[in-house]
Amino acid sequence: MKFKKNFSLKHLNTFGINVKSELFYELIDINDLPALLKKVKSENLRYFILGGGSNVLFIDDFNGLVIRIALKGIELIDKNDKYVHVKAMAGENWEDFVSFCVHNDWGGIENLTLIPGNVGTSPMQNIGAYGVEIKDTFIDLQALELETGKIRTFTKEDCQFGYRDSFFKNKGNGKYLIMSVTLRLTRKEHVINTTYGSVSEEIEKQGIKQPGLSDVMETIRRIRRIKLPDPAEIGNAGSFFKNPVLDAGHFQKLKNDYPKIPGFPAESGRIKTAAGWLIEKDGWKGHREGDAGVHDKQALVLVNHGNASGRAILSLAQKIKKSVENRFGVSLEMEVNIIDGKI
Ligand code: FAD
Ligand code: EPU
Repeated sequence: MKFKKNFSLKHLNTFGINVKSELFYELIDINDLPALLKKVKSENLRYFILGGGSNVLFIDDFNGLVIRIALKGIELIDKNDKYVHVKAMAGENWEDFVSFCVHNDWGGIENLTLIPGNVGTSPMQNIGAYGVEIKDTFIDLQALELETGKIRTFTKEDCQFGYRDSFFKNKGNGKYLIMSVTLRLTRKEHVINTTYGSVSEEIEKQGIKQPGLSDVMETIRRIRRIKLPDPAEIGNAGSFFKNPVLDAGHFQKLKNDYPKIPGFPAESGRIKTAAGWLIEKDGWKGHREGDAGVHDKQALVLVNHGNASGRAILSLAQKIKKSVENRFGVSLEMEVNIIDGKI
């Protein structure tokens, strides 16, 4: 087994933060897992599992072992008239997987195009975009319990999916290595979802009357490319905060003061509002402190203009959080996983 020492993670996190891990291992072969776990246990190593690095902010060098998931493979495990069951290994790139499915005319994840990262991470925060979440097509996943070395299957119910949330962000946090994910996708009678934002309008503009999977995918790709910064050009991890879900009274009070505040019905009569709107209204859009900044087209996205440290970005996030709380009485929760050296 080949471990790298003092390994730079700069190109393995989309914020482009220049930190090092004491030890680094790229997990390509699933058969290496028992020996890897043995090493972790016998040397009492702190470890961190890294996927595509698109939802993490490293604030220190990592004192321990970073295990980068690079397990590959896609398998058609079941098929009937209406559906396919597709299993993908955790290290498959999510966007490649979406393209592969749409290319095969398998429907259900086309709205989740251009989300960076790995397939294996998709259930962690129940990735979502443009009216669809991974839970909508999810069947199960296989994960290794790191303490016992046992492999466990988690059904949709076991995963306790919520908005940007799952068992793996709560009780299961840091305890499992997700190895593969299985989804159920449609082969015909696809459910085309163009209800979010300007998707249907954009499709109509192109003169498309009955959009197929690739029409939806291409349209959402175009919209996303305009709004969101490309990590290859400017470091970021997508939305830094979650959209807050408020009780109806609190929302109504804000609506009285700010009639244009966006509101979307959420569970139990609550209202989800847009963190990006609150941050913009509070004057932060395009703001910059050294190389740490707020994107000028999407205030929910914090960016690294070059050589910002993780701590500088975190400090900016904390200022924004405090300021939004003072002005609107809304407490923003971070979506990005903050990784210090001592996990
Ligand atoms: P990483 O950042 O590597 O890891 C995230 C967390 O998952 C870490 O805690 C890590 O330890 C854990 N983890 C990773 N792999 C495993 C594994 N195999 N087993 C156990 N734990 C694991 N997200 C959305 O939901 N919707 C969006 O529309 C969206 N748009 C984005 C746009 C941009 C430009 C960017 C940069 C990010 C966006 N994101 C979005 C966030 C991000 O892409 C997703 O959360 C993605 O699923 C993260 O995957 P990753 O492999 O990069 O995870
Ligand atoms: N808005 C503003 N100003 C801004 C940004 C947004 O006023 O600077 C307003 C918009 O005008 C719109 C509303 O906020 O009324 C929603 O904006 P948008 O459609 O851009 O989506 P979002 O709520 O900011 C969420 C997800 C994204 C996902 C999109 C599309 C969260 C935390 N973020 O963003 O996910 O791609 O919807 O579904 O739920 C991510 O998680 O990393 C991510 C990018």
